[in-house]
Amino acid sequence: MTNVCNVDGVITAESDARIPVLDRGFLFGDSIYEVVRTVGDVPFGWPEHWARLRASAAGIAMQLDLDEATVARRIAATLAAGGNGDSYVRLVVTRGAGQAPNIDLAYASGPPCWIVMVRPLTPMSGKPAQVALIERLRNDRRALDPAAKSGNYLNNVLGLAEAKAMGATDCLMCNHDGFVTEASTSNVFALLDGVWCTPPLHAGLLAGITRALLLDFLPRCGERVAERDLRPADIRRASELFLSSTLRDIGPVTHVDGRALHGGGAGPRTAALMTAFAENMTARLAGHYAPAWRRVCGTGG
Ligand SMILES: Cc1ncc(COP(=O)(O)O)c(C=O)c1O
Repeated sequence: MTNVCNVDGVITAESDARIPVLDRGFLFGDSIYEVVRTVGDVPFGWPEHWARLRASAAGIAMQLDLDEATVARRIAATLAAGGNGDSYVRLVVTRGAGQAPNIDLAYASGPPCWIVMVRPLTPMSGKPAQVALIERLRNDRRALDPAAKSGNYLNNVLGLAEAKAMGATDCLMCNHDGFVTEASTSNVFALLDGVWCTPPLHAGLLAGITRALLLDFLPRCGERVAERDLRPADIRRASELFLSSTLRDIGPVTHVDGRALHGGGAGPRTAALMTAFAENMTARLAGHYAPAWRRVCGTGG
């Protein structure tokens, strides 16, 4: 497998892919994206990723000019060019090259630029995290809503750097009201008094696809779950914590602000959930996502 890239339908080696310097994604972070992982040639959770891409476009007033089937076929062609293994897919849509380096949307003549990057997947499922509660705030919803997965990730880049400078591997960021939002590229779940609590969307965070799958899955495993405002003190007193994301699935939090939990390993309920979730997602891929993907690509179902 190799790293390949599809820019507006043209597939090349990733190292040969180019975008114009006037592209607004490059100049202003004026873009949206999704990270999808595949099992073989099937993207996991494609319907959810497509729905979120559309919501992100609406969130930054970007008109998408391609339909789902066209995008899915481009991804399938890029996957085929990259090889057969499990892949990391990054789908980026920028607002395209403007007529001048001017932020005014009146200069954004478009059309959008569609980029699909495919790489062999580096397995990260279950990767543990040591988190630090940092000073830097998550972007306010009224300024740049974290619910839109835009290419402007400086808030997260700097948050992660701050956590790393504190000896952690990831950050937890609060909002302006002092409530916890999320980590740099994951959502957070905390076990509090026997209930798995995760911050509500109104705290200002990305509606993670893994988060949504877990909100549905946890009660079916007999776990109690709640979307609840969390304070840093709740994170510090939680009996177990984990991060969730497409690449990580469930990643146990082993340290909070340098303090080890469970001897620096996963909590017992987290460990059990990691196994149960992986099995459930394998079944969901075969029974739901694979046929849905083949239908949208027009190759079956
Ligand atoms: C800021 C942020 N929060 C949460 C997530 C997790 O979302 P998902 O489960 O859809 O991967 C991501 C993933 O990239 C992210 O960047």
